[in-house]
Amino acid sequence: MCIFAPMKTNVNLKDYNSFGFHAVAKHFAEINEIQELESLIRSDVFKHEKYLILSGGNNVLFRDDFFDGVVVHINTKGIETLEEQKNNVVVRAQAGEDWPEFVRFCVEKGWHGVENLAHIPGKVGAAPVQNIGAYGMELKDKFLRCEAMDLTTGETKVFTKEECRFGYRESVFKNELKGQYIITSVDFLLKKDAPLNLEYGNIKAYLEQNGIERPTLQQLHDAICAIRDAKLPDVKQIGCAGSFFKNPVIEKSQFEDLQKDYPNIPHYDEPDGRVKVPAGWLIEQSGWKGWRNEHVGVYEKQALVLVHFGGGKGEDIVYLAKCIQVSVEEKFGIKICPEVNFV
Ligand code: EPU
Repeated sequence: MCIFAPMKTNVNLKDYNSFGFHAVAKHFAEINEIQELESLIRSDVFKHEKYLILSGGNNVLFRDDFFDGVVVHINTKGIETLEEQKNNVVVRAQAGEDWPEFVRFCVEKGWHGVENLAHIPGKVGAAPVQNIGAYGMELKDKFLRCEAMDLTTGETKVFTKEECRFGYRESVFKNELKGQYIITSVDFLLKKDAPLNLEYGNIKAYLEQNGIERPTLQQLHDAICAIRDAKLPDVKQIGCAGSFFKNPVIEKSQFEDLQKDYPNIPHYDEPDGRVKVPAGWLIEQSGWKGWRNEHVGVYEKQALVLVHFGGGKGEDIVYLAKCIQVSVEEKFGIKICPEVNFV
């Protein structure tokens, strides 16, 4: 049976992108049931117009104020336990579930595995696309498989972890299969008991300051939320898309040269011998942290985050990002690339 999602026209996307830019979609379909997506893919309008799959809108930048096509907003809900053994739980979340709420749900159940990814704004379906990561954990670590719909045929395919070809903020859905599939649900393999990962950055310092010696799963979750809140803007107040750039990975020899001039340069060794350098540090050293004009700027507490104070356009952020890239490259000889998707 065909179930059609109601199609609206000329919809303002301001509330559907975390930068809060004004952009109008010619057509807009909200998908609440997976069958609606199937019917939409097989419909004439979908075959003839260009389309944009919009999940939480936390990682997109609208350059133009009009999208001449169909915007598909995924809002399917549901979390179910597929398998439960002594220590293992396989849990399935539908693509439109809110990611932070999904993490909270798992933590409340006492299931370990996604707690360090707490409070990352977005939806479950978008999380594998860029293999979200934070505080020493990446989505791929607990990912089991996902289901995705082919945008030309409406057929469903299961992708294993290997088929997703995950990398740092990368997956097959951002590269070889870009625009070809839409993730409809994700399965995670979680543990009922597992050691907590407290190693990254300031987690331990935060727990110590708050007199927590042996944190519970819930306390670690709450600590990560508090650490993120202290560093990142509240998108309800200030528009942004989290980290705007990826952290660049450079050759060891280039890193050693830089270290001579900047002995305190923060860095992480990569398994392949190269070195990852925080883009936030490079941007701060290039003098941009806290810079702003009337509409856009560089967040004062985390230089990796570009912000929209209101009244601006996507192009203002594009221009600012270009200026930052040029000055980082001039100063350090390092190219930094956006993590955010430009539309
Ligand atoms: N740093 C600066 N100045 C800044 C920002 C950072 O010197 O303005 C330095 C910090 O002092 C630290 C290092 O850079 O030594 C790393 O900073 P931080 O721990 O804040 O992490 P990040 O590399 O800036 C990454 C992720 C974040 C994630 C955090 C925490 C990327 C692109 N970003 O940021 O992810 O929350 O680690 O794990 O990998 C996101 O993707 O939207 C996001 C927020």
